[in-house]
Amino acid sequence: MWCESSLLFEAEFDMCGVDVLGKPRLMSRRVLSVTDPSIDADLSSGPGRAPKVHITATTELNLPDALEVERRAFGSKEEAELVRQLLSDPTAMPVISLLAYQHDTAAGHILLTNATLLGHADLEVMILGPLAVVPERQRTGVGAALVIEALAESRERGVDLVFVLGIPEYYPRHGFRAPAEAFGFEPPYPLAEGDEQAWMVQELKPGVIGHVRGRVAAADSFMRPEYWRE
Ligand SMILES: CC(C)(COP(=O)(O)OP(=O)(O)OC[C@H]1O[C@@H](n2cnc3c(N)ncnc32)[C@H](O)[C@@H]1OP(=O)(O)O)[C@@H](O)C(=O)NCCC(=O)NCCS
Repeated sequence: MWCESSLLFEAEFDMCGVDVLGKPRLMSRRVLSVTDPSIDADLSSGPGRAPKVHITATTELNLPDALEVERRAFGSKEEAELVRQLLSDPTAMPVISLLAYQHDTAAGHILLTNATLLGHADLEVMILGPLAVVPERQRTGVGAALVIEALAESRERGVDLVFVLGIPEYYPRHGFRAPAEAFGFEPPYPLAEGDEQAWMVQELKPGVIGHVRGRVAAADSFMRPEYWRE
């Protein structure tokens, strides 16, 4: 099925899957229809036509696909290894780990892990990253589909704030604001000079930004200075 006038993202969730720790998990199934002028300008399959993107939660079965996507997108093993560690790190739970498939081929992966705003243990905070799309599918909306779906799931779970250290030209189109330090949010490690705009925040509940401030602590596996340089 193809969509003529807008991008159609199908987010498919198994009804009886297992989560990354192998625990049974009841997952919803839904279809998102997304019209976004910022992403329907670049459709690789011809004018007005976008291949369906199936988004599914990462499980033990498809984890190798997620790791391979990470390796290919970044051209190194570092991000895949970080993902592998985070998915078995109790301090990273609960995670949102989603895989995008096109034509039954893994095209993208996104991971959000639990974090803390120090001094505000009542807040639900997550860190987005890594986000990865295989080279041949980049700039066709796969990354956007994953970010949109991951933020929707975060909102449903009651997450207050999502942080990302990433490409400053990319994430603001998905609602992230930079620099997060200007809103009072320090990253887990001091940023390198010039990286200020890469540390971004998005509130999923209106009014959180401006009422709280502090340093963000990531999951244990993420607390290494080398992960906090853009
Ligand atoms: C960055 C990445 C996740 C974006 O996902 P994607 O599916 O390729 O991007 P989308 O189709 O959602 O969006 C495309 C738009 O985003 C912007 N964009 C994408 N990658 C970008 C980059 N590396 N730098 C700046 N802008 C970028 C572009 O404006 C592009 O649209 P345009 O070329 O028509 O102007 C993907 O390219 C990727 O995996 N890159 C390698 C790994 C990486 O850098 N991950 C992000 C770490 S923060």
